[in-house]
Amino acid sequence: MTDELWITLDPSLLVGIPEIDQQHRRIVHILNNLNAAVKQSGESAELTARLFDEMIDYVRFHFRNEERMMQQQGYADCAEHTAAHTRLLEEVLRLRADFVSGNEFGVLQALKDWVILHISSSDVRLAAFLGGAGRAPAGTTEHPVAR
Ligand SMILES: [Fe+2]
Ligand SMILES: [Fe+2]
Repeated sequence: MTDELWITLDPSLLVGIPEIDQQHRRIVHILNNLNAAVKQSGESAELTARLFDEMIDYVRFHFRNEERMMQQQGYADCAEHTAAHTRLLEEVLRLRADFVSGNEFGVLQALKDWVILHISSSDVRLAAFLGGAGRAPAGTTEHPVAR
């Protein structure tokens, strides 16, 4: 009954750069674990806070990794994409307080939404530049995917 994963990376969210896709899978995996832990009422707030911090650390690592790739390859939208990362990280840090004070599901939903939004817009464009199978047309900006 609860075997179904909360977030899945469907094919439209695979950007075609193995290193990036693998890291996105890891972020989704951590978020799924976090969601499962919150759902199990027996799990302590301490554990879920620790999982939340693990997620922050990994997202920070992933963002730095993408930023290094952008800089090394001279990506034209590097500044814009980096600024999006900075805003997202600030938002996650802000949401942490919300999370530990009891709004776990609201925060998780917000995180799920931004992961999908950022990958489907900014990361797909970056990957297309890096030579992956990014499918976004030029000029696509951050907006939710249709399906
Ligand atoms: Fe990104
Ligand atoms: Fe990413």
